[in-house]
Amino acid sequence: MNSNKCFKLINPNLNVKTNIIYLTLFLFCVLSSCHKEEPVVENDDTYIQQLPAGFEPMIIPDSNQLTKSRVALGKRLFNDVALSRTNEVSCASCHKQNLAFADSVAFSPGVEGRGGVRNAPTLFNVGYLDRLLSEGGVPTLEMQVLVPIQEHNEFDFNVLELAERLETDPTYVEMSQKAYKRIIDPYVITRALAAFQRTLISGNSPYDQYAYQNNTNALTASQKEGLALFMSDSLACSSCHAGFLFTNKGFENNGLYEVYPDSGRIRLTLNPADRGKFKVPTLRNIAKTAPYMHDGSRPNLEAVINHYASGGANHPNKNTLIKGFVLTETQKANLKAFLQSLTESD
Ligand code: HEC
Ligand code: HEC
Repeated sequence: MNSNKCFKLINPNLNVKTNIIYLTLFLFCVLSSCHKEEPVVENDDTYIQQLPAGFEPMIIPDSNQLTKSRVALGKRLFNDVALSRTNEVSCASCHKQNLAFADSVAFSPGVEGRGGVRNAPTLFNVGYLDRLLSEGGVPTLEMQVLVPIQEHNEFDFNVLELAERLETDPTYVEMSQKAYKRIIDPYVITRALAAFQRTLISGNSPYDQYAYQNNTNALTASQKEGLALFMSDSLACSSCHAGFLFTNKGFENNGLYEVYPDSGRIRLTLNPADRGKFKVPTLRNIAKTAPYMHDGSRPNLEAVINHYASGGANHPNKNTLIKGFVLTETQKANLKAFLQSLTESD
């Protein structure tokens, strides 16, 4: 989804900043419904979040603590084409479970086959991010839900009409009462989908077994060589792809273009220093999420490695760490093998 479009939600004739203010107000109105949260008591609806070794605790809003019934409702919504105006597309159409909740095409089609303009990212571990979308303009998973629902190229619908549609389904009525003690409305739809997404956690790749589970044989010799290259100062990959998610959660220009067709974070901040900057993506499950970059312009990991080796295109905002390097074919294969080791097999 294109957040430019998400601003259009309000009024395409207003400037971006005004629209952001309106959008924020709109989201606030929809999402802050007066509802007293029940204190969490352990019962058979309690959802125990299992975090892999090496993972930090996830911050979960008090107003949307995880329960089994909330996650189950969110999962049903995530897979339901009723969320789109034409009953054609679900969240799972673009965020496919077998592809680490990403897609194999550069631009996934929405309703009536309408093409998007950005590549669908993985939703694994998305509960750790607090600046969503490539330019980082959406702070919570609850708010993000409204974007695909309204987006012309995605569901092309309206959350109020969607709630009316779902109210006619007795299963949703029942699940909603169980999960949030209220009818299925925008409050419930946004929260249940967010709760479900906070359970999409992946942290048992061969790399994890090696790094956090003391299994020195989990990586091949080639992958270990690749890990050393990845962490080296000369390649500098780990300066941006840092930490247990392999992202410093920042926004960087990694030199894809001299002139960016999609201008990136500047659309949110209007700051020229942010032109061509995009969120540093996680590299977890990278073997399943080709094609790569915000526009899916790099078809495979070889193309990504060759991009960084070449130093990329000249752009005034390009990070100085993107300066090119020379690797032998074997070293490139090792680096690729390491990247693949960040992928969980099941
Ligand atoms: C038509 C394809 C499509 C559909 C349908 C769709 N998405 Fe997405 N999703 C995308 C694309 C493309 C992006 C990246 C947009 C960007 O970076 O601006 C994205 C981004 C996201 C993100 C932000 C991830 C991040 O790392 O910042 C979340 C969360 C998300 N989608 C959840 C959902 C949910 C929940 C639904 C259903 C309510 C949904 N998506 C439906 C294509 C889709
Ligand atoms: C200056 C920060 C920076 C450095 C250094 C860096 N990257 Fe990236 N990387 C990014 C950004 C930003 C993106 C996303 C760009 C976009 O969406 O267009 C990205 C994207 C990627 C992707 C595609 C991810 C996806 O889901 O589409 C891969 C793979 C990748 N980088 C690997 C590497 C490797 C390997 C190195 C070292 C050779 C490296 N990166 C060095 C910032 C960096």
